[in-house]
Amino acid sequence: MDIPIALENVSLTFAAQSRPFTVLQDISLALARGEFVVLLGPSGCGKSTILNLVAGFTKPDCGQVLADGQKVERPGPSRGMIFQQPNLFPWLSVLENVTFGPRLARHHKAGVNQQAREWLERVGLKGFEHHAPWQLSGGMKQRVALARAWLPEPEVLLLDEPFGALDAQTRLMMQELLRNAWLATGTTLLFVTHDVEEALFLADRILIMSARPGRIVEEIVLPFGRQRDIETLAEHPQYGDIKRHVLHRVREEAKRHLS
Ligand SMILES: Nc1ncnc2c1ncn2[C@@H]1O[C@H](COP(=O)(O)OP(=O)(O)OP(=O)(O)O)[C@@H](O)[C@H]1O
Ligand SMILES: [Mg+2]
Repeated sequence: MDIPIALENVSLTFAAQSRPFTVLQDISLALARGEFVVLLGPSGCGKSTILNLVAGFTKPDCGQVLADGQKVERPGPSRGMIFQQPNLFPWLSVLENVTFGPRLARHHKAGVNQQAREWLERVGLKGFEHHAPWQLSGGMKQRVALARAWLPEPEVLLLDEPFGALDAQTRLMMQELLRNAWLATGTTLLFVTHDVEEALFLADRILIMSARPGRIVEEIVLPFGRQRDIETLAEHPQYGDIKRHVLHRVREEAKRHLS
């Protein structure tokens, strides 16, 4: 099988207040090309740490992280990341923000600008190319972040609660937009959220993590197909049962963490 990202028996321990604690314990997972995988789990279980490992920001103590079969040693353009905050440069325009990375890498400016305009149109920001970030709403800023992350055509996008700071209506629109961009590009996505409904709408497969030390305790392959409609998904005969089960599992892990 074509595996753009794999974690093999990964463990990671941090030193905190003079005594070490294990954040991730024996994590193994593999993403198939073009797959949309969502990580769910209680706060502090190590979801962001997994994304940081895949991005190459952090290295494991044991086990290995592989991108296209090669050990991940550092960040690289084949693995993009999107955070909860859009992190735009306030002194640059929308277009300049989106083209910042490729311009640093001295890619041909006219070609990059053309691609950036196409991405801005895809995320619904046509006509906003020369706006400054402060002239945009939160949802619009996050669309700029999506366009910026997708422009260099990463093989894998890592998304860390990207819609967590948005209002419910904007969040739904962003979820649809993300799905459409994913279906159009075939990028492999690893997406972290706390929102079970979001996970059910987006994912091919959900991985549920335990409280610290973080382990993957359950995998759920969703039977909803790739063409989903946010308004009718809940009518799927299995939706209610799967939602109840996932909510229960996530709550169980969160309670275990507090007890
Ligand atoms: N560089 C670091 N040094 C020390 N401890 C760290 C470091 N990075 C993360 N941690 C700790 O590791 C644990 C897991 O953190 P992580 O951010 O991965 O959790 P999370 O599942 O993303 O949580 P949340 O849902 O709240 O975002 C936390 O206890 C955190 O304090
Ligand atoms: Mg996190």
